[in-house]
Amino acid sequence: MNTSVAILGATGYTGSELIRLLDTHPHFNVVHLGAHSQAGKKAGEVLPGISGKLASTVLAKSDAPLPEDVALVFTALPHGAAAQSVKNALDAGKKVVDLSADFRHKSHDIYKAAYQVEHPCPELFEEAVYGLTEFTRDRIQGSRLVANPGCYPTSTLLPLIPLLKSGLVDSEKIIIDSKSGASGAGRSAKTELLYCEVNEGLSAYGLPKHRHAWEMEEWAGSLSTQHTSVRFVPHIMPMSRGMLSTLHLTGNRPETWHAILAETFANEAFVNLLPEGKLPSTQAVKGSNRCDIGLAIVGKHEAVVVSCIDNLLKGASGQALQNANVMFGFEETLGLSATALWP
Ligand SMILES: NC(=O)c1ccc[n+]([C@@H]2O[C@H](COP(=O)([O-])OP(=O)(O)OC[C@H]3O[C@@H](n4cnc5c(N)ncnc54)[C@H](OP(=O)(O)O)[C@@H]3O)[C@@H](O)[C@H]2O)c1
Repeated sequence: MNTSVAILGATGYTGSELIRLLDTHPHFNVVHLGAHSQAGKKAGEVLPGISGKLASTVLAKSDAPLPEDVALVFTALPHGAAAQSVKNALDAGKKVVDLSADFRHKSHDIYKAAYQVEHPCPELFEEAVYGLTEFTRDRIQGSRLVANPGCYPTSTLLPLIPLLKSGLVDSEKIIIDSKSGASGAGRSAKTELLYCEVNEGLSAYGLPKHRHAWEMEEWAGSLSTQHTSVRFVPHIMPMSRGMLSTLHLTGNRPETWHAILAETFANEAFVNLLPEGKLPSTQAVKGSNRCDIGLAIVGKHEAVVVSCIDNLLKGASGQALQNANVMFGFEETLGLSATALWP
């Protein structure tokens, strides 16, 4: 079975990662690439990493009509710009996995508070399914629109949701300290991402409330049914890709928390719980769609959980493909590897 696919935002980091993943997918076949400032060029002129037929494909404008035979559209566009493309694709009868933040919230007020822009089609919020695959796959199957989670929320929500569900973690006193590789901010030119600004340094940003804190609170609360508030501080690291989130948690019986995580993720292909006390590293997940989780008890009522992903894979394009596989009834792991690039 061959399903034709379009990638809008193909010249960005997540779009080009999708091209790479789909290259070996047995059912999805990329037939259309959309871009913005680079439209009109051949994909190979803009993306040094691709070869073969797609390299000579001319990049369409991201708002150009989609080919008739396309059944699935990945929108890998900046928030604000993605919403209209998503709506156009749905109106043309396509299914969509949106990698932007435009459909991750259920309330227009929260979307506006987090992103400071008006949304052109909030009427689609209700239909969009939040694509944290391990917790929402039942709803993803059969949906038309999946809102792929943010990278920071993916790394924190995976371990946090089962612990909150247990009722043993204080859901109002969660501190999350995250570090991201520079590709997390996308490919477009920004002064703070110049080599000299990022290399050999570490900087915090995003206070008092980073936009992903809204997403974490909304989905930790909704998927665990515990009202949740987080203090979230992100940092940029001098590495191309990778993300490490450290969760400082308080509550009751932390000696039982490792077993809760083990039970939750026992049959998950892309979540790897390390033995208690062992902590993960970004190098061990680079290039894979895996989330590695470690937990250490640090007090009678306290534990630290560390979670690592590759921001471009489980944090973006890998999870987007995982969700697309579920949407179309394919094996969830198709085109994805749990094995990292090593060294
Ligand atoms: N990077 C990550 O780790 C990550 C993780 C999770 C989610 N996301 C989300 O995924 C989306 C894409 O991220 P990215 O890192 O791939 O971004 P990126 O590298 O900056 O790429 C953005 C893409 O969108 C196109 N574009 C830029 N401005 C546009 C506009 N006004 N209208 C239409 N298209 C426009 C660009 O085309 P041209 O190159 O032709 O200008 C490019 O193809 C964003 O919403 C981001 O928040 C990113």
